Amino acid sequence: MEKKIAVIRGDGIGVEIVNQALRVLDKIAEKYGHTFRYVDVTAGGCAIDAFGEPLPEKELQKCLDSDSVLLGAVGGPKWDTLEGSQRPERALLGVRQALGLFANIRPSCLFKALENACPLKQEIIEGGLDLVIVRELIGGAYFGKREILQTEGGKTAYDTMIYSEMEVERIGRVAFETARKRRGKLTSVDKANVLESSRLWREVMHRLKDEYPDVEYSDMLVDNTAMQLVRNPGQFDVIVTENMFGDILSDEASMITGSIGMIPSSSLGEGSRGMYEPIHGSAPDIAGQNKANPIATILSAAMMLLYSFDAPQECRDIENAVEKALADGYRTGDIMSEGKKLVSCSEMGDIILANL
Ligand code: IPM
Ligand code: MN
Repeated sequence: MEKKIAVIRGDGIGVEIVNQALRVLDKIAEKYGHTFRYVDVTAGGCAIDAFGEPLPEKELQKCLDSDSVLLGAVGGPKWDTLEGSQRPERALLGVRQALGLFANIRPSCLFKALENACPLKQEIIEGGLDLVIVRELIGGAYFGKREILQTEGGKTAYDTMIYSEMEVERIGRVAFETARKRRGKLTSVDKANVLESSRLWREVMHRLKDEYPDVEYSDMLVDNTAMQLVRNPGQFDVIVTENMFGDILSDEASMITGSIGMIPSSSLGEGSRGMYEPIHGSAPDIAGQNKANPIATILSAAMMLLYSFDAPQECRDIENAVEKALADGYRTGDIMSEGKKLVSCSEMGDIILANL
């Protein structure tokens, strides 16, 4: 196959982790006779520095012209004081929206070798941890009407959490289909005891559940879900939820695996083009030091092969190579524990490449 991949390294550790993922993709290309062409896209804080805006039209166009997008991370303290619409994060939100990527798939799975890195007690994770969060990605408070007003008592600001039936239904279908391909269990997370948007969410999900009688469906309130994730994470298979709840719960779920540096994600829309990115941020505190964990980005590239390029064997190869690196005791700082071998970002890349 021949594919054009838009590459957004972004800011902070984004540069180093994406470089490792590209080495892995090149190795896969060599092994299977594929051709991957990379198109560099400048977006995020670096684009603010270079062009004065986080996502210039011509950079976005490169994403629209590609078969898929690989992203590292955007943002950093340098741009933290900018006004909302000018922040590096706008680049990420802009690509998600322009490409119509409404479904964000975030798997959290505890690698056997990393059990020590899990902060929960042994008896809690005995039931295992292997769940997927299906997060709605281009609706809710992230994209609702927002405003800052001058009022008598000073400034007033609001954001609106807004959902249409269509938006709930399309993410609901992705979640039911995902559950079908896994252990057949779906938990829909909302705040229906308080929010109107959640009550609509629940109504639509209930309509869908009658179409998927083979899926064991339940509702759970988001506060309870946050608690259940650390009380008994093994009870979950697929979780579907709105944008902001999904943002928060996926960070929580990732930590159970030992480190947020382990979790990949894919963002998909109607077609096969997706954006693939680790769920962590740009980690400015360790940027440029070759210390970051590249595994989440490497696993994101693996997800790209599976979901966008329909290459399951190539995806499995990468996952196996990562698993072997961990089983052989190699660790970046974030997942380091006693008796293991501490390696740098690029050394982790070397080891995974060698396993391929
Ligand atoms: C994520 C990130 C983003 C989000 C930020 C950087 C805009 O936290 O992908 O989880 O909130 O979606
Ligand atoms: Mn997040």
